[in-house]
Amino acid sequence: MKKFAVIGNPIKHSLSPLIHSEFAQQSSIDLTYEKILADDEITFISTIQNLINQGYAGVNVTLPFKGYAAKISTTKTSEVDLTGSANTLSFDHNAIAAHTTDGIGLVNDLLEKIGTLSSSSILLLGAGGAANGVIPSLLNEEISHLYLWNRTIQKSFDMANHWHKSYENISVMENVDFKKIDIVINATSAGIDNTASSPISLNDSHKEIICYDMMYGRQTPFLKSASDNNLAFFDGLGMLVKQAAASFEIWHEQKVESKSIEESLRSTLI
Ligand code: ATR
Repeated sequence: MKKFAVIGNPIKHSLSPLIHSEFAQQSSIDLTYEKILADDEITFISTIQNLINQGYAGVNVTLPFKGYAAKISTTKTSEVDLTGSANTLSFDHNAIAAHTTDGIGLVNDLLEKIGTLSSSSILLLGAGGAANGVIPSLLNEEISHLYLWNRTIQKSFDMANHWHKSYENISVMENVDFKKIDIVINATSAGIDNTASSPISLNDSHKEIICYDMMYGRQTPFLKSASDNNLAFFDGLGMLVKQAAASFEIWHEQKVESKSIEESLRSTLI
């Protein structure tokens, strides 16, 4: 039986074991999948080595270790190279192959919920790992433009400079102009605590805008603002399930159906 795990800190509330065991059932694959807490970078690296020694086939990596996962890998996809982030590792003896499926998880969820991203103009809020991790996947979708905004706006300018080396249609939107935007994606961590307000006010938005928050399991101030303004909005639960589906596909070379799992998780989270 193949062995897998997810490593992070915190890890207690991770839904990945549940999602992967549902996929395994769907595909009639026998596997084990557990949660492992790593205290810090050093423990993370020694844990990976222990798992390789114990014959594990691969791991998912979550916050705050996605950058270290990219660094310690022996082979990586171009997307891991560009984002400096990996959430899916496959082990083959001492070789570690790294993938990142966050971007494809987001894009597949947007496609399922909205239909198409082609020619859309997107505003991405945030300048941390979560925002940077999804940029290549968004820009590979033939969107018309990706605008960047962050509370500390200098970080958006630094980010745009970095991504300009690979893509043309990305720039900073220092003063948000909703007329130019079809979709707003919140990739900030505002909302982890309930005291924060929405990173941007949606009060002046036009009514056709679609709001997407990469967070799930709670109503973030951003989604509350979307709801208060009667805008269409989605949380990141679908992204979570679809990034897991993409990891599963890498490990097992089998496509899985994710919608029913999202629905059953949603009913347990509410
Ligand atoms: P992650 O890896 O999850 O992206 P991170 O690297 O710590 O986490 O980045 C957090 C992001 O959320 C940053 O863009 C941060 O903005 P700043 O660069 O200005 O700090 C953003 N963020 C966190 N709290 C916020 C808040 N209350 N309002 C707006 N943006 C916030």
